Formats: sequence, structure tokens, C-alpha cells
Amino acid sequence: MWDTHPAQFWLRGERPERIVGFDERLGLWNVHGHPEVVEALGDHERFSSEVLRLFPGQPDPSLTDGNLLQVDPPAHRELRRLVSGAFTPKVVADLEPRIARLTHELLDRVDGGFDLVEDLAYPLPVIVIAELLGVPSGDRDLFRGWVDAMFENDDEFSLTDAEKQGEALRDSVEQLAPMLDYLRGHAAERRVKPREDLLTALVRAEVDGARLSDAEVVNFASVLLVAGHITTTMLLGNTVLCLDAHPDQLRAVREDRALLPGAVEESLRYLTPFASVARATKAATALGGVEIPADQVVVLWPGAANRDERRFADPHAFDVRRDPNPHLAFGRGVHFCLGAPLARLEGRVALDVLLDRFPRLRADPDRRPVFMPSPNTVGVRSLHLTTDGE
Ligand code: HEM
Repeated sequence: MWDTHPAQFWLRGERPERIVGFDERLGLWNVHGHPEVVEALGDHERFSSEVLRLFPGQPDPSLTDGNLLQVDPPAHRELRRLVSGAFTPKVVADLEPRIARLTHELLDRVDGGFDLVEDLAYPLPVIVIAELLGVPSGDRDLFRGWVDAMFENDDEFSLTDAEKQGEALRDSVEQLAPMLDYLRGHAAERRVKPREDLLTALVRAEVDGARLSDAEVVNFASVLLVAGHITTTMLLGNTVLCLDAHPDQLRAVREDRALLPGAVEESLRYLTPFASVARATKAATALGGVEIPADQVVVLWPGAANRDERRFADPHAFDVRRDPNPHLAFGRGVHFCLGAPLARLEGRVALDVLLDRFPRLRADPDRRPVFMPSPNTVGVRSLHLTTDGE
């Protein structure tokens, strides 16, 4: 009903044709079931994150070193330990009052109806991550220019023309070069003049005498800047949309805010922002009873797995009280989302403020929500709200 991408069959309440299957058209494997996605995410020996190696022509390694998402253990373990030391639960928890204040400031600027994404869900996470890193949040239009183009594409990921896909991947990595230059400048300054920020913590982070190289600091900071905003933007927009579409649940959450964390989790399950993650087989292996040869790209679909009726009773029902809710929106295993505590905190705090300030918030019936175009993401990129609804 909302013009979501045709490949996202689960959003229409449909079941996958095959749980594990080869897509001839795209030249890759798809995995759409919950136990199968859990198995693959939990086994980096069989399903490696070093997917770029399967494409002809590699991007310059200085553009990818330090990108946690693309390395396997043991290198991943070291890197993750270094960055987790700088990105601790306390660092995140201490942000709560700042997130609430920022939400109020952003909402002070709206007058009557507003676009939730433009006015709150986009700027809030970008400002938070920029402040955390220690780069000027006033530069956020710059970040937007660098990052948005990565998500604006509705092409499906395809290996049938590996040359072309390799080029597209290289372009998307290289397109981030200006952002890396920008971050390099800030990191170099922190080495000379330390401050109380994450960039300083990253240039100083040390485990067993090992330090992050310049390229690693910069690439990790860029992962945070990219992952840290667009995903949480989707989470906020999707949660408001889900609650609006289920007025009884919205009422329950309004009356009992202890239900808010459950609403955020259910929104992550129901409209999973990162619908897919890619892995590469290192050797021939079986998954879900299907043989997959070595060196294949395997696309795991947490979005579809989160509607698997073998794992979730009544999977197409939105239920803020669902318990347990073992959704895979943040992944599983060694690459489990490092930013999950921050995303959850931002979701809970911003929604709480929004519900407090607008007792009659509704999606504008005359302006339908617009979703991001990519088959790999599920998230509203505009959601117009009225503040004087029934
Ligand atoms: C990893 C989703 C917010 C930083 C991941 C992965 C997923 C994910 C699915 C695993 C990818 C894989 O296994 O290949 C999300 C969603 C978010 C969110 C749905 C919001 C709703 C954030 C935020 C940050 C962040 C706010 C940082 C501030 C990261 C990092 C990794 C990661 C650094 C890589 C971890 C590793 O490879 O060890 N995220 N994320 N994410 N996420 Fe998030």
C-alpha cells in the first residue's frame, strides 16, 4: 500500500518462495528464514564478511581499513575491542539528557503539521553522532550530501554483471573520500590537541600496545557517521508510522510509557531498517538443507526472517507487548550492531518527548508516507504529521 520495493515481499504478508535459494537473475543466494539467518550470522568461518574480495578490482585498502563490518576474526576481534573501549555503555547512557534537550529544541521550531523525518528523525541522530565524535554538527548538510547518495539507489545488488557491480561498489566507497578527508583533518587535530570526544578516544585507544592507524581511525569514524544516522532516522519514522497505523497500541503506549521500549523493538522487527546483510562462503557448505558452493555471495534477509512464522506467532501483527522478540534487526554474532544501545536510547527518548508534546499526533491522511527506494532498506524518508487530529 505504501509503494515499498517489490522485492520486499514480507511487507505484503507474503511468504518466501524458497527459504534458501539461488537467484539466477542476480547471480547470488538469498536466505529468508529466521533459523537459517541466525545460523549464518553465527558462523563467520563458513559465512565471511569479507565480501568485497568476490568482486573484480578492489577499492584502495586505505578506504576500507578499520571498517569493522568488512573484516572477519581474528582481525575483527582486535578492532572491535579497541573501538568498544571508546564507545562504552556509559558514554551512551550519559547522552540521555542531551538527546531529550535536542528533541525539544528541534520540535520548538515546528509550527502546526510537520515532516517527522525532515524536522526530527534526520537531524537528531546526525547531531548526536557528530557531537559524540567531536565534529561540528553544523556541518551536517555536508554529511548529508556525502551519505545520502549511498542510499538513494533502487538497484538490486547483482553479480550477473560482476564487472559493473564491482565498479558500483568501488564508486560508492570512493564517493566517501571527501568525508574521509574531512575526518582525517579532525583526527590529526586531536592527536595534537586532545579533547573530550570520541575521536580523541579513538586516536588514543590502545590494546596490548596496539593503536589504531590513521586510516583505521578515519574509516571507523566514517562508519559511525554513516551507520549512526540513516538507520536511526528510519527507526524513528517507522515506529511513528507503525503506532499511527495501530491506534489501539498507540493509545496503550501513550498511557503507559513503560511500553515504549517494546514498541521500538517491535518496530525494528516489523519494518526492519537494514533489510539485508551480505556474506561470502569460504568453502562449499549446506544451509537449510541446500548446498551452496564456495565463493558465493549470500544475502541474508533479517527483514524477512523477522516475519518467519516458525519463530514468531502471528508474524504480520504489530504487537508492542511481543515477548520474547528475538528479531534480527541489529544482526547477531560477532558483528552485532555496536550502536544498538544508542539507537534504542534515541528511539525511546525522542518518542517519549514527541508523545508528551503532541497529544493528538496523526499521520497526515492527505500526504502518504514515502519510503526509501532501495530494496535493502525499509524506512520512511518522509512522513507528514498533523498535530490536531482526533
Ligand atoms: C553493525 C543495524 C544503528 C554502528 C550493524 C549490523 C546491523 C545494524 C544489522 C550488522 C551488520 C552485519 O552483520 O554485517 C542497525 C540498525 C540501527 C543501527 C537497524 C538503528 C536502528 C547504529 C548506530 C551506530 C551503529 C546508531 C553507531 C553510532 C554499527 C557498527 C556496526 C554495526 C559500528 C559494525 C559492528 C561490527 O562489525 O562489529 N548495525 N544499526 N549502528 N552498527 Fe548498526
